[in-house]
Amino acid sequence: MTETSIAFRRPPGPSQPVRLGIDAETLGVLQRLQAEYGDIVSMSRQNGRLAYFINDPVEVRRILVKRHGKYSKGPGFERVKMLLGNGLIVSDGDTWRRARRMIQPAFTRQKIHRLLRVMAHCCDRRAIRWTELAARDGVINITQETSEFALELILISIFGSDYASRIVVDGDNPFAFLSRDSTRDLRIVMKVQELRDMLLEIIASRRSRDSEEDFDLLSMYVQATDKDGVGFTDKELFDELMTLIVAGFETSANTLNWVWYEVARHADVEARLLVEARDVLQQVSELSHERLATMSYTQQVLEETLRLYPPVWLFTRRADAADELADYDVPAGTDIYLSPYVLHRTAHYWSDPDRFDPDRFAAADTPQKERPFFPFSLGPRRCLGEYFSFLEMKVHLGLLLPRFHMATVDDSEPEFELGINLRTTRDIMLPLTRRE
Ligand code: HEM
Repeated sequence: MTETSIAFRRPPGPSQPVRLGIDAETLGVLQRLQAEYGDIVSMSRQNGRLAYFINDPVEVRRILVKRHGKYSKGPGFERVKMLLGNGLIVSDGDTWRRARRMIQPAFTRQKIHRLLRVMAHCCDRRAIRWTELAARDGVINITQETSEFALELILISIFGSDYASRIVVDGDNPFAFLSRDSTRDLRIVMKVQELRDMLLEIIASRRSRDSEEDFDLLSMYVQATDKDGVGFTDKELFDELMTLIVAGFETSANTLNWVWYEVARHADVEARLLVEARDVLQQVSELSHERLATMSYTQQVLEETLRLYPPVWLFTRRADAADELADYDVPAGTDIYLSPYVLHRTAHYWSDPDRFDPDRFAAADTPQKERPFFPFSLGPRRCLGEYFSFLEMKVHLGLLLPRFHMATVDDSEPEFELGINLRTTRDIMLPLTRRE
């Protein structure tokens, strides 16, 4: 790639090479670059590649929506490839397009509504545990609890009755290490591979039995076919299942972790949430998506939490073909860095950006499109589980908040662990009481 051509319109940026990873140091670097150089910053990465950091919402949208065909997933996804093989999140081009078309029907609203019972069941199991915790310890490790909740939920949503009969043996969940260990290194990859045989057996038994009786995500994945009538191979299914498990639980778990933390600190928010939640709990026997759709304040609280703590805080693309962004050239091969975390906290778009204020998302407030808000990404590669996760989180709050109150111990703010997901370095512990 030649960067020396006179005609090349390169955005401003530092002259020294910059190290970019997916870690806390990188966040500091990106924040400094934004403050010094503005909306579009260019730099050479340490490996010699040209990289742009984009903070102009119009250009972010252009990359993710209008010109998405010119960009593939980029360097930020290399690390998860070891874990997720060629599943939907990391694949590109025709492989991605085929898989997305095959999987998308499993995520229609109608299909997700069928999982409402599973969501309520997982909340009831937590309620039993939390009642014991409140009586015994009076304190809860909410990070661990939300993680176990979301993991159990995604596993039952995928495997249905096979979860209890084939996966959990003697009360032991073989996937539990995913919720206890946030690293996604080679050790975890090895552990995932150990689950391979079990998953392939489950896939084989699903292929051979009449799946009419199941309506879990696995049955839909097994039945999915492409335009030539060809289904997923076992290898493809394994990658897609691991993708679904990892993508489907960590993100919602982290969001719920932060929601409980913020609710514990804001009595006014808790009081307003309780009004909606009590209404849901009272009608639990008729838990319906229509009822959940009326939880507009809960929706605001979830959105504000996703603004401040977007689980996928940084992601990347790579230009497959030359492009133009604003007044600049983008040579083919350029790495693109996009950070919901940075844009969600940019004062130009959000007043007092570090303050937790769900009223920012009230319908009457500034029209959505003027503000950069993209915790689920945008465009054709937008998160497939967005609706699932909002329902899951609303059911969780609707059924658990009226029964339990959490308080804070002090005003110290948890430190961030900035890996593939934005987490807390240490688990959040909150005093827990059962409401009368
Ligand atoms: C708060 C919860 C969640 C957040 C913030 C979140 C965020 C994201 C983001 C940012 C991406 C796209 C990254 C990119 O454009 O490069 C993504 C993709 C994806 N997510 Fe989620 N996610 C959440 C929950 C879920 C759940 C519950 C599921 C499954 C049940 C799920 C399944 C997926 C899948 C399959 C993709 C890949 C889509 C594709 O590339 O076609 N996510 N998610």
